[in-house]
Amino acid sequence: MTETSINSLNIPAFQQDLLRWYDENKRDLPWREDQDPYKVWVSEIMLQQTKVDTVIPYFQRFIEKFPTVYELAEADQQEVLKAWEGLGYYSRARNLQNAVREVVSNYGGKVPDDPKELGSLKGVGPYTKGAILSIAYDQPEPAVDGNVMRVFSRVLRIEEDIARQKTKKLFEDHLREIIPHEDPSSFNQAIMDLGASICTPTSPACLFCPVQEHCQAFAAGVEEQLPVKKKAKKQKKIRYVVLLAKNSSGQYAIEKRPEEGLLGNLWQFPMIPIEEVGEDHTGNWFYDEYGIALRISGKKGELNHVFSHLIWDMEIFDAEVLTDDSDNGRLEFTDPDKLQSYPFPVSHQKIRTYITDDPGNNK
Ligand code: ADE
Repeated sequence: MTETSINSLNIPAFQQDLLRWYDENKRDLPWREDQDPYKVWVSEIMLQQTKVDTVIPYFQRFIEKFPTVYELAEADQQEVLKAWEGLGYYSRARNLQNAVREVVSNYGGKVPDDPKELGSLKGVGPYTKGAILSIAYDQPEPAVDGNVMRVFSRVLRIEEDIARQKTKKLFEDHLREIIPHEDPSSFNQAIMDLGASICTPTSPACLFCPVQEHCQAFAAGVEEQLPVKKKAKKQKKIRYVVLLAKNSSGQYAIEKRPEEGLLGNLWQFPMIPIEEVGEDHTGNWFYDEYGIALRISGKKGELNHVFSHLIWDMEIFDAEVLTDDSDNGRLEFTDPDKLQSYPFPVSHQKIRTYITDDPGNNK
């Protein structure tokens, strides 16, 4: 199937139709103002798993704060996480900074244009590598993500499961044949725009598509059945009690998450798997893992947070700190008006508003 599907594509006509459309319709995006490889890199990392409209203000603030690799390399990690606060997938920010530090120390501050060197940097996988090489350095490299696979699964009518690595490789091989050598930067960005505005996941706007006449799925009327993607496993649900734990000085307990793993080095309110919460003889709930004794009182609310692989099902309670013998270096007590200066994941930003919006805390 795939042999014939690429063979029946008129590649020069496809390129021309796509590039003409892009020339007339390209989106005005802040990372398109120049071809600075650092800015392209930052934008591509932010755009992974995040929509363009969400990314734009983050990108602008980030570049204002860290205009070149040097400012980012020198920044404190907490400052970088603070600038990323709310974007999610925080390992992207940590990896980006580590890789930028390597660019400064090993490559004289120049983002490598060699595929091997670039691909060896932390967090730079085949997609990001291809995007930087094509968009910033005009190299005819494919940059295959889910959007690109959707477009070409339709154009070439490829029915393989796009969740498989093998299928991604197949698309990369095809794209190497299709991508033009004159303007690979515009070509890759044109595919991204086409995927965002016309070749959308549901109800694609085929009647407005500049490459409709090249599309094998459209010809067969199967565009809505493509791409084929096997369902991911259902997320595991974990129930937590989250504590707004106040001490006698009116400060709240917050803790820094471990460096490794989910939301590494971000801050949160103490969060306890519900089955680990005890009940003492007075009927109070308590918890002493941190070396602090707590009395848990009124329930403030509930919150669900869905990650790609798990769900946090959280119940939020006020708690009073009875004794504090904490020896856990990650736990801090903080005044309500200082809470904003720590990077929190989105779920705990929402929880933070229980405190910052409470007039009792003299916001
Ligand atoms: N999605 C991923 N990369 C993009 C880019 N450079 N422009 C627009 N959308 C994108």
